[in-house]
Amino acid sequence: MKSDQELYKRLCDLPKGQLWNLEVPRFDAASPRERMQGVALIRALGTIFSRFGTDEEKAAVRGWLTALLKDPQEKIRRYAMAALPKIGGDESSEAQMLRLLKESGGEREKRHLGRALEKIGGSATLSFMAQGESLPELTQQKVQAAIARRENPGTVELEALLPGKPGMQINLRCRRGLEKIVREEAEEQLDPDVFRPGQVRPGCVTLTPLRPFSLSMLYELRCFATVGIRLGLIENGSGSEWEEALAGCIASPTARKIMRAATHGVPRYRLDFPARGHQRGAIRHVVQQAHALAPELLNDARQAPWSVDVIPVGSGPKKQRDAIVELRPRLYPDPRLGYRKDDIAAASHPPLAACMARLAAQASPDSDEPRQVIWDPFCGSGLELIERSMLGGVLAVHGTDLDPAAIATARANFAAAGLENVSGMFTPCDFRDAEHQAGIAPGSITLVITNPPLGRRVRVKDMRGLMADLLLAASKALEPGGLLIFTNPLRDGPSSPSLKLEYRQTVDLGGFDCQLEMYSKRVARRDGEIS
Ligand SMILES: C[S@@+](CC[C@H](N)C(=O)[O-])C[C@H]1O[C@@H](n2cnc3c(N)ncnc32)[C@H](O)[C@@H]1O
Repeated sequence: MKSDQELYKRLCDLPKGQLWNLEVPRFDAASPRERMQGVALIRALGTIFSRFGTDEEKAAVRGWLTALLKDPQEKIRRYAMAALPKIGGDESSEAQMLRLLKESGGEREKRHLGRALEKIGGSATLSFMAQGESLPELTQQKVQAAIARRENPGTVELEALLPGKPGMQINLRCRRGLEKIVREEAEEQLDPDVFRPGQVRPGCVTLTPLRPFSLSMLYELRCFATVGIRLGLIENGSGSEWEEALAGCIASPTARKIMRAATHGVPRYRLDFPARGHQRGAIRHVVQQAHALAPELLNDARQAPWSVDVIPVGSGPKKQRDAIVELRPRLYPDPRLGYRKDDIAAASHPPLAACMARLAAQASPDSDEPRQVIWDPFCGSGLELIERSMLGGVLAVHGTDLDPAAIATARANFAAAGLENVSGMFTPCDFRDAEHQAGIAPGSITLVITNPPLGRRVRVKDMRGLMADLLLAASKALEPGGLLIFTNPLRDGPSSPSLKLEYRQTVDLGGFDCQLEMYSKRVARRDGEIS
């Protein structure tokens, strides 16, 4: 086994031409014993040509692998059936696998054929099963799902009316620390006859639907990250009880009604339990049981419009906790981000940008005419500027960023947002040079809003220096009373005598904490003091 692995690694390092032109003919000409010793070549061909092969080369490799399904040695056939789905099967490889399934006596080989057919099987596999030929029940479900996906990947229908009723629970999920902003937005924006905001827990705001509702009503809100409809709570129990309880949630009346009502195409779901570290076997049992209870729902990890999330609750090791089960629409791209034409690697989490924008809008005095002039010194793809502009009252935005590609992205996104009455100026420069390069005059800005580099994805040599320079630049650019809102990675960072702290909240930025802070520029009094 070890030597198979070593040989596989060595073969993967060879140029693909050498694999195909030298190693394959050598393998074909070898004795049965030598072929068994060199079986790793089959796996290497699957790996290398699936990644780097042209369509023509893949077709040739597919033909070779299909021929190996007739090899007298079971191990060689097994390697070929594992490599084929990587390259992508065709009718001939499917037919050969089905023939083998009929002829093969070995349980192990049947199991492997089932797994391969789950990935490449099509209508021939389905009619094979319809003729009463035995394949594991799960294979049947996976093949049905793959066919459904190929014919129509299926989407979530945002406008579909879902059966809301008191007792049902909708969980708006957000980054920890942002719950209050999410709840306030829900209270303000949602129709109180349809939704009643409820409990707040870390990273989650609960709503109760009082009558039927659509997902599009929820997606009017911009501050939450994802939405999940609670299907149940499963207590940490023994393997089979736990599996049965989870299958019951997936096949519950709530899940069935929602998926049926709001899927365009066949309802398919993926099962996400990031925390339990579950074995593949457990997942297979769960989806098999769920399918027996609700045959119209198909489990499929690829491009599924729905996800069933298993989220541990309480304290203690994740694997041993009770878990909430939720049904989550998988909406890619997020319908709220139609303006996002392009992206950058260090982009802000969009709901965080929306929360910052909301914080800013709430803290700014109302005015009849748009008067906000906003600057994002580290604008990246422009999310904060756009999100704030969408809330109204904005006259102009300035974005600066060192990276010209980020500036081009911000410009394109801003244009796509269709903010007709807001002028946008984007300048590639260091924020410290913004006065001269971007024309940001002292005292001309009402709001500085930004997510600076936090030293995670790109190292920042002198974070304290960067933060000190940001406070200096912001305090110079702001008009008296103007606001600075930013995510501060330093707990006790530099301060500025002209900026007064108005708000501070610890926020999880995806595995690490930061302070979301708001400052106001102090107003100079006549006696020379500042207040
Ligand atoms: C966290 S990203 C900002 C993400 C942005 N809010 C968005 O939505 O895409 C930080 C950005 O700061 C820029 N940056 C780093 N140092 C800078 C500097 N001295 N002046 C201006 N921009 C800088 C980086 O190029 C990067 O695009």
